[in-house]
Amino acid sequence: MSPASSPTAAIAAGGQGPGRGSYWITTFGCQMNKADSERMAGILESMGYSPGLDEHSADLVLYNTCSIRDNAEQKVYSYLGRQAQRKRLNPNLTLVVAGCVAQQEGEALLRRVPELDLVMGPQHANRLASLLERVASGQQVVATEAHTILEDITTARRDSQVCAWVNVIYGCNERCTYCVVPSVRGQEQSRLPEAIKLEIEGLAAQGYREITLLGQNIDAYGRDLPGISPEGRRAHTLTDLLAYVHDVPGIERIRFATSHPRYFTERLIAACADLPKVCEHFHIPFQSGDDDVLRAMGRGYTVDRYRRIIDRIRDRMPDAAISADVIVAFPGETDAQYRRTLELVEAIGFDLVNTAAYSPRPNTPAADWPNQLPEALKVERLQELNALVERSARQRNARYLGRTEVVLAEAINPKDPSQLMGRTRTNRLTFFPADLPADLPADFPAERPDRRRHQPGDLVGVRIDTVRPFSLSGSLA
Ligand code: SAH
Ligand code: SF4
Ligand code: F3S
Repeated sequence: MSPASSPTAAIAAGGQGPGRGSYWITTFGCQMNKADSERMAGILESMGYSPGLDEHSADLVLYNTCSIRDNAEQKVYSYLGRQAQRKRLNPNLTLVVAGCVAQQEGEALLRRVPELDLVMGPQHANRLASLLERVASGQQVVATEAHTILEDITTARRDSQVCAWVNVIYGCNERCTYCVVPSVRGQEQSRLPEAIKLEIEGLAAQGYREITLLGQNIDAYGRDLPGISPEGRRAHTLTDLLAYVHDVPGIERIRFATSHPRYFTERLIAACADLPKVCEHFHIPFQSGDDDVLRAMGRGYTVDRYRRIIDRIRDRMPDAAISADVIVAFPGETDAQYRRTLELVEAIGFDLVNTAAYSPRPNTPAADWPNQLPEALKVERLQELNALVERSARQRNARYLGRTEVVLAEAINPKDPSQLMGRTRTNRLTFFPADLPADLPADFPAERPDRRRHQPGDLVGVRIDTVRPFSLSGSLA
């Protein structure tokens, strides 16, 4: 990676390579974007950029954008407006838009915000260094063509030192009629099992304790990989992959997301029950509780199938946490159909549900249908559903009261440095005392984390004494 003739002022604030100035990344959207941002931050640091203090002073500002709903997209434009203004005063500022809005809009983004230096789709995240070199040579660059995602050899700069995302499959081949993801993330591309395992071994060596395998439709893992070799590739499905990466020493917990009900198999459920490191938490979006709406969405399963999957999971893992995504006010959704969604939420007893009102998206079939529902009805349905979801989460959390849970400590609670925060195997956020020696002054913890009995990365027994809808607190068991 040659430093070339970077137009950015070199302030060399502690970066490893030649100083290029500071960078700032703001990330919108899902875990894929968070994982991509961590890789892009790693690339920037290997180029000699150092982390900036904020987006108003950094020499390179990168927005990693989300296009899943219109409000997510609009947010980006207001951020860009402010940066464009800054760039007019400081031409050395490098402005980058990455992610799903970049892919969706491409060249059009340059017309809208001519101050941009680089517009790059998600498939190009690992190419950030070479794209920036073209920018440094004076070009305005748009990288949105379909691209085979190369293995990235740079070390990602991860937010957590305990839990890490690991991409296993990029893209999505489904065609849900509301969803922009296939058009912005492209065709499914599975990583080779060997590369995934190598990454996980590297993470374990750095001290990571938990990994989350990521894919938009993670059940599709492996279906695009070449046929089984004579030696027999050992990880051709998600189930095989879980077994293949399971025994990496040092890794204590394994999670995966997002599951698609159409492909969720008995074999996978059995593997999750049998493999001790795989956590009892399943994120399986159902999107609607009505079969006709599911058909119009192109989801490829029925409510009955969804309920059977959850029953089967609970047969094998009675305490499993189930979370999901749901959309209300999909085009043409009648009141009776919407009520069926409420019924399903009530019947399943979810630990968490991400709710959204339908938002028409570019290049998706449902956006062109004439039976769109009015905004007021969307808001009304969403509010009613949210109240139900909160009740359900509160009821589900009540079961933890008085129990002792093993919590993987992830970080110091930013609001109270005498506490650690982490999650149960079922993914419940839990706060608990770090257990400081009693004779220390109140301001001690922030300066001397080494004197805490428990540190991020520890597995700690916590007796739960407070339950809230979305978090728990307890004392050391
Ligand atoms: N791959 C996952 C979800 C990806 S997007 C799956 O198949 O379920 C995350 C969530 O955003 C979706 O589950 C859906 O609930 C929501 N979503 C996607 N497109 C949407 C749209 N056009 N309007 C509202 N919500 C949407
Ligand atoms: Fe979108 Fe459907 Fe793919 Fe999920 S499975 S990312 S909802 S198209
Ligand atoms: Fe958003 Fe792209 Fe993820 S549209 S939800 S950031 S895949």
